[in-house]
Amino acid sequence: AAMVSRRVKRKRRWKKAVEILEELEEGCSTPVEKLRQVVDAMAVEMHAGLASEGGSKLKMLLTFVHKLPNRSDKGTYYALDLGGSKLRVLRVQLDGQRSTLEHDVERIPLPQHIMTGTSEELFNFIACALKEFAEREGDSPYNSSGNTRVLGVTFSFPVKQTSISSGILIKWTKGFAIKDMVGKNVSDCLHEAMSKMDLDMRVAVLINDTVGTLALSNYHDEDTVAAVIFGTGTNACYLERSDAIIKYQGFLTTSGGMVVNTEWGNFWSSHLPRTSYDIELDSDSPNPTDQGFEKMISGMYLGEIVRRVLLRMSEEVGVFGATTSKLSVPFVLRTYVVGIMHEDVSPDLHEVSRMLKEVFDISDTALEVRKLIVKVCDVVIRRAARLAAAGIVGILKKIGRDGTGGSAVAGKSKLGDETKMRRTVIAVDGGVYTTYSMFREYLNEAISDILGEDVASHVVLKVVEDGSGIGAALLAASHAPFKS
Ligand code: GLC
Repeated sequence: AAMVSRRVKRKRRWKKAVEILEELEEGCSTPVEKLRQVVDAMAVEMHAGLASEGGSKLKMLLTFVHKLPNRSDKGTYYALDLGGSKLRVLRVQLDGQRSTLEHDVERIPLPQHIMTGTSEELFNFIACALKEFAEREGDSPYNSSGNTRVLGVTFSFPVKQTSISSGILIKWTKGFAIKDMVGKNVSDCLHEAMSKMDLDMRVAVLINDTVGTLALSNYHDEDTVAAVIFGTGTNACYLERSDAIIKYQGFLTTSGGMVVNTEWGNFWSSHLPRTSYDIELDSDSPNPTDQGFEKMISGMYLGEIVRRVLLRMSEEVGVFGATTSKLSVPFVLRTYVVGIMHEDVSPDLHEVSRMLKEVFDISDTALEVRKLIVKVCDVVIRRAARLAAAGIVGILKKIGRDGTGGSAVAGKSKLGDETKMRRTVIAVDGGVYTTYSMFREYLNEAISDILGEDVASHVVLKVVEDGSGIGAALLAASHAPFKS
């Protein structure tokens, strides 16, 4: 009788675990009608953000980038790229032929205390890394010693630009928290740190990582109209017509276009499928009610959502037997680990076992439990990828490249009797997209679901790696006023 009751109990537990999964699936569901509502909401918010300052949760930041890199620029340009867990310093050599773009890059892990210390510490750290890099690379054939070196800076946080080469930090995202920096001019801080170190460099452009990615992609492929990042954070920028940027009309100097940084990580809509896990993740975060879209999509948070589901299964149902305390440590489950478990194709799911042991110190799980975990990963990642797709289509809709009538005519060209959709390239970077094939597949599939095969066949998502840094150097080259 004791045996029977144990079996009955196990069965009941299992039933409850399945219920938790089903509730998650329900809460994360993204049927195509819902995605279309998200698309519409994105396009509407983009309009509102362009109409007036503070008109939307979408900041739609001006970049002052009116022209994308010129392929005939020559010379040596430096760049630095800050925005995730690593600082990158680069040197790019241009000889006026785009096929021979050469670059050296160094990646320096950012110590945690630098991400949460003072602005002075941060910029001293950066200037120091840059100086060492410049000295080590000093014997280049393109060496421009004696002249002020030209620097492109990628700073991947929301910045209110005052010109193409300077701007003020609006707020931190992605876990950075250097309080005294908010409201300060990023380029001024850097110049100050560099001059203390006798480093003779001038910031020619200050840009977002999305803008660098757009610049590099456009340099190789002129059909590129937008760039999207799915990394630690998520964001998109795109080329907008100047006359559509209502809030900018006052100081309009050029016709043509300007790149707009949407900061879509902060996008919000009641149509987004939100669960109790999302709500709790948000309220426990250092920036509650901020970056709502980012918290459902980007690498910083996907593992954390999965962890919260597993924790609940453990606490309420005991799926992992005796609970380990590691399951309750925020952010221990990294998104790349979710990827490893999710993409485990071995029949016994041994990668899942290995990761459970490594991350949570959980061993001896039953195969059915491991399958359940894979399913949880799948639900969370699929929702993220489909929402990401809706965001991209939202941009296409805003610029009339979604194949619908109305403003879409602008995106079509007459070819005899036939109206043809123009080839539209969107540059994509960020580890969640470049290294996680399930995310990529779900995203591409959702774009086809929303647009239909026909229109979707004209939309090319192109992986452009390291664009955030290289693009900054390219833009520095074409914008350097003090070029020798
Ligand atoms: C965050 C930042 C944004 C950046 C994105 C991707 O959303 O606020 O500026 O582009 O992460 O790195």
